[in-house]
Amino acid sequence: MSVSGHARFTGQNAPSPRHGHSKPDPHVIVLFGATGDLAKRKLLPGLYHLYVAGLLPEQFRVIGSAPPEFALSDEDFRAHAEQACTDFCRVKPSDQPESWKAFAENLSFGAASPEDPSALISAVAAAEAAIAGKARKEHRVGRLFHLAVPPAAFASVVGMLGASGLAQGAHCIVEKPFGTDLKSCRELNDAVHQVFDESRVFRIDHFLGKESVDNILAFRFANGLYEPVWNRQHIRYVQIDVPETLTIEGRAAFYDATGAYRDMVVTHLFQVLGFLAMEPPTSLAAKPLLDEKSKVFEALRPIDVQHVVRGQYNGYRATSGVPADSDTETMVALRVEIDNWRWHGVPFYLRSGKALKASRQTVTLGFQEPPLKMFRTHKRDAPGGVHNEIVIDFDDPGSIHVEFMAKMPGPEMTLGSMQMAFRYEDSFAAANALEGYERLILLAMLGDQALFTRADGIERVWEISQPLLDNPPPVQPYEPGTWGPASVDRLIAPHRWYLQ
Ligand code: BG6
Repeated sequence: MSVSGHARFTGQNAPSPRHGHSKPDPHVIVLFGATGDLAKRKLLPGLYHLYVAGLLPEQFRVIGSAPPEFALSDEDFRAHAEQACTDFCRVKPSDQPESWKAFAENLSFGAASPEDPSALISAVAAAEAAIAGKARKEHRVGRLFHLAVPPAAFASVVGMLGASGLAQGAHCIVEKPFGTDLKSCRELNDAVHQVFDESRVFRIDHFLGKESVDNILAFRFANGLYEPVWNRQHIRYVQIDVPETLTIEGRAAFYDATGAYRDMVVTHLFQVLGFLAMEPPTSLAAKPLLDEKSKVFEALRPIDVQHVVRGQYNGYRATSGVPADSDTETMVALRVEIDNWRWHGVPFYLRSGKALKASRQTVTLGFQEPPLKMFRTHKRDAPGGVHNEIVIDFDDPGSIHVEFMAKMPGPEMTLGSMQMAFRYEDSFAAANALEGYERLILLAMLGDQALFTRADGIERVWEISQPLLDNPPPVQPYEPGTWGPASVDRLIAPHRWYLQ
């Protein structure tokens, strides 16, 4: 079948639309896995919120897709989407019935399987014909596939898109996890590249869509204050800490095959590390940004299993769907090192896990202590010792604070630990904030890969993970609601976890 066009700019050469507001060209968006959990919780509500915020193209169609045995009628798909938006969108369809009606008119369904993609081909052709008639002449109609399907289905869906001709000129969003080790990651990249060249592949990591993660770039590179001290001369340690209180209830099959390291560290935490540790890119366009991130990954030392703690919460093995002898880690803490001029010798401590004491997403940069210790009493007076840290809370809505020592009022030179704080919530209009998936879908329509992951970077992260995947240390038990096994504290000594 023919393609009516594609977005004007693609891939890594696209000028960054993040420099100014830019609306995508008309688009047909196809959601594979349209009846699945991700579509229900994030993608359908995200698309509706983009619509209400006026950020979707003037002409667009969303086509839900799934294998024929899960096919829905257009009407049922609209009802499914309405329920999803009612349950999970900030703006409920009932809040603005007219908006919902207008949005829902653009939804349809087209089932597809590798053996029979005909219903989807017809749905795409109908949607593109409807849009092409209304779109302005200077606009082309973009086609975006979002593969919200289990990893086992990636290759066959991509193959079907290639064989049916649907892939021609299209962009493709691929969900995590991108492989389970270097070998499977390479195979997946090969399968994707047989159909889509890298400039059309958008590997999504929703942490990169978080406002506060993007704000790391602004904090570092738009201010004269921080970047000069952002290096081994001034920073003693870095922590990226993402504990979660929730358990794996309801996701046992996925989680037991995946574990905390693959679920969170290989994907999200290393991406945040890339932004924290990169050299200043020459611009915010995708290529310079992705190049700098890749250089950080190149400089990562292979994981030393001596510096890894794997924990499993008590009760995990009793969860329905989890084998009684499971060795899967439900939390992991590790120390990684970046062997380059900026970071040599600075430990990066990463931690994430389920059933822990708090749900937070934080980055902490600890500063070197001053060479002259003039304040003999400050350790006693500041609970937990001297605090001179920058702490970035990157869970939405996000905040940054600087912890520093200040003289307490009074006749003595007694110090207390104080904070200077910036909170997104108090500073900008919350209504303007986009959720991670929303920003990333918008960027994929605009053809900007800056906040996505690239094949070389993700392969390198698997490569340095191999020693751990080959020789995982035994899991150590911990009580739900704690910070994990005691060895997590030994891992970080002589420092301490900011969140503890
Ligand atoms: C997902 C993981 O990618 O990210 C989950 O699979 C985790 O295990 C989630 O809970 C955390 O992301 P969020 O949306 O809370 O930032």
